[in-house]
This record gives sequence, structure tokens and C-alpha cells, in this order.
Amino acid sequence: MSGVGRALPAFTLRGWSRGDIADPYPVYRRFREVAPVQRADPDGGGPATYYVFSHPGVATVLTSRHCGRSPLPSGPGTAADGLVPDRFATLRDLVDNWLVFLDPPRHTRVRSLLATEFSPAVAAGLRPRIEMIAGDLIAQLRRRSVVDVVAEFAAPLPILVISELLGVAADRREWLRAASTALQEASSSRAAARDDAHDVADAAARRLSAFFAEQLDARRREPGPDLISLLALAQSREVAPLSDTEIIATCVHLLTAGHETTTNLLAKSVLALLANPDALDELRSDPTLLPGAVDELVRYDPPVQAVSRWVHRDLQVDRHRVPAGSKVVALLGSANRDPARWSDPDRLDLHRPPGPHLGFGMGIHYCLGASLARAEAEIGLRSLLDLLPDVTATPGPVDYADDMIFHGPSRLTVALSA
Ligand code: HEM
Repeated sequence: MSGVGRALPAFTLRGWSRGDIADPYPVYRRFREVAPVQRADPDGGGPATYYVFSHPGVATVLTSRHCGRSPLPSGPGTAADGLVPDRFATLRDLVDNWLVFLDPPRHTRVRSLLATEFSPAVAAGLRPRIEMIAGDLIAQLRRRSVVDVVAEFAAPLPILVISELLGVAADRREWLRAASTALQEASSSRAAARDDAHDVADAAARRLSAFFAEQLDARRREPGPDLISLLALAQSREVAPLSDTEIIATCVHLLTAGHETTTNLLAKSVLALLANPDALDELRSDPTLLPGAVDELVRYDPPVQAVSRWVHRDLQVDRHRVPAGSKVVALLGSANRDPARWSDPDRLDLHRPPGPHLGFGMGIHYCLGASLARAEAEIGLRSLLDLLPDVTATPGPVDYADDMIFHGPSRLTVALSA
């Protein structure tokens, strides 16, 4: 690897130590201080990858018309970011239809068909139901002396909410969670280290595609107030509606996009608040701070640490030239701690003036589910704040998943007083 202009140690999203995964920010700082944009040349040739560490650099990548999700035709693969090898046909066909991997004009068409269902007003309408789901989960925790916040609250909450949105029967929700986790394996930064990651994900893709095809048929026969029924109904009303393939792919996409991310936000928020008792006390005594606190928590330790793009035309990124054909990895976690953008960036500050943090992305791919995620995080955290006064011990084991893209603890154990 080389920096633009000077020699650097290699930066990579793989093979991090457990300590660095738990706190990646000193690592980002070391690299960012040397150069905001750094080039890596893959062993054995192929397009260079440019890692972008600064806030202005990441914002440029996310908003530039010269960057896209598909490699140039002369580059590796043709779609879905070149992530899925050709032989995994089901997985490839599925993710090729995911909004996050589409470029305009197809992205514009699909996003406009989904936008209404993910508006702030729709998220507000879901709040009473989210409160009930969170309340039920908390009621079960109260009877426990030791609680794994991830397994028993942060993971079930989003899966229950998305299942509700899609109108999936309650008894299939645990099955959905497991299938979604298997699928997610293929896009994690550890996927390349696991020989069977794509096999596991491809099998999950087949199961999920068959499941949502059945759901779509059932809703055509008997529509309900859920998203699948609305998308099926729109097929006869819109000029260029989603096809069956696109509806099925969208259901799977929403499941995976909204599941692990929200789980990680809730779990990392608990960790951050336990490490910052003043902020925790403040939030407990003034819950009106919650909406701002959620965005500060997303800035402080974002659940998605990195997103990638292909460069379609030569680009200036933070004064560095990135040539067409390269891959760019935009480090959201680093940009959110860039001292050139934020004062005292490593401090969790619940009163920080709102600013464009990049935890939900920026530009045309800005998180479609951001309003829903904010509602889930606010309600989930408020429910947990009621429980946290009972925490008598500092957190027990915190295990981080070995993933520097979808980032967060896989286990967070706390002890509660009797
Ligand atoms: C896109 C983060 C929750 C659906 C994104 C992107 C980020 C992100 C960073 C941009 C990806 C890119 O530019 O390549 C998060 C975080 C969440 C969250 C941190 C929770 C705390 C959700 C939820 C849903 C959702 C709950 C829906 C149920 C999507 C979709 C996209 C997306 C569909 C693609 C948008 C597009 O390409 O136009 N999210 N997300 N996300 N997110 Fe989220």
C-alpha cells in the first residue's frame, strides 16, 4: 500500500485485533493524520482501492455523480459492487436488485416507489407498535439477574419491527432472523476469510427468495395493510412498478439492511452510555434529549463503518486525484471523528449542534430507513433507560463480531439488581 504522496503502513478492513475492533478510532486517527486519502494496490494486480478517512473526502465520494455502485464494464464483475462471484447465481440475482447496489436511473425509479412507505410520517405512525414490542421485551428482562442486551433486546427488536412492517406471521420471525444473519455473512469484512461464506449466503438467499415469493402470492389473494400488499397493489397503479423479482429482492434487502444495523446501534449506545455516566444521568433525567442523543450516538460510533463505490470518472477527493476504474472505501467511522469537522470529536456530547454526520450515509443512497431506525433507537433506548438504573455491575463480557463494516458487539452482558 502507499499513501498518496508518501509511504504508509498498510490499511485494511481485515485482520484487526480484538482491541482495535472494539475501539477503531485511534487506528483511523493515525491514518487520517498521515493522509486523508490512501491507495492500496491489491496483490496480483487489479484495480487499486483508495481508502478515504476525512469528512470532506467521504462526503465527496458519497455525493459525486462520478462514483457508482457498479464497476466500469472493463472492471471486475458487472453488478452488486462486484461483491458476489458469478457462480452464486441466486445470491447474485437477489443483491443485483437491492436498492443500495443500484445506480441511476434504475435507483431513482425504485427509490421513488419505496420513499412514501419510509417517510417520517409512516415511522411516526409505527411508534405505538414499536413501544409495545419494546415493552414486551423489557418485561421479560426484568425477571432476569444477568442479561445479554444484544441477544435479549437489541437483536429481537428490529427483526420484530421489520416483520411487522412486512406483515410476516409471528411464528416465522425467528426463522427470518437466522436466515438474514446467514445472508449478511457474505457482505461482512470477514467474508473473504471464510471459504463457505458465499455458500451459506447463497443457500439463505434461496430460502428467503422462496419465502417472500410465497408471501407475495398470499398477499395478492388476501391483501393486508402491510408493505408487501402495498407493493403488490402498486403493480396495477404505477407506470413503472416494481416487478415480482424486485419486490422479493426488496423484502430481503429491507430485512438485512434494517436488522443488524439497528441491533448494533442499540448495543453500542448502551456501551457508550455506560462508559459516560454523566450523559446517561442527563438522558435519564431529561428524555427530551433523546432524539438529538440518537444522532450523536450514530455519529460517535456508527453501526456501518464503511461503504464502497467504484469511480466512473477521474475524481478529486480532498485534494487527491482518484482515477476512473478504482474502488473507493469511504470510512464513515473515521469521517464522524474528523477534528477538522467536529470540535472534540472523541467526546460523546448530547448537546452537540446538529450537523451532517455520515452514519446514515449521504447523497442518493442516504439510508431509506433512517426515520424508522431513529424511532426504534429512541424507543428502544427509552425502554432500556428504565431498566439501566438496575445495573449493579459494570458490563460483563463484551464480544465484538469480527466485522469492520457492520460493526458492533455480538454479546453485551450486564448484571441487574434483584
Ligand atoms: C442505506 C445505515 C437502518 C434501509 C444505508 C446507508 C447507511 C445506512 C450508511 C448508505 C449505504 C451506502 O451509501 O452505500 C443505517 C443505520 C441504521 C439503518 C446506521 C440503523 C441504525 C435501516 C433500516 C432500514 C434501512 C431500519 C429499513 C428497514 C436502508 C436501505 C438503504 C440504506 C434500503 C439503501 C438506500 C439507497 O440505496 O437508496 N443505511 N441504516 N436502514 N438503508 Fe439503512
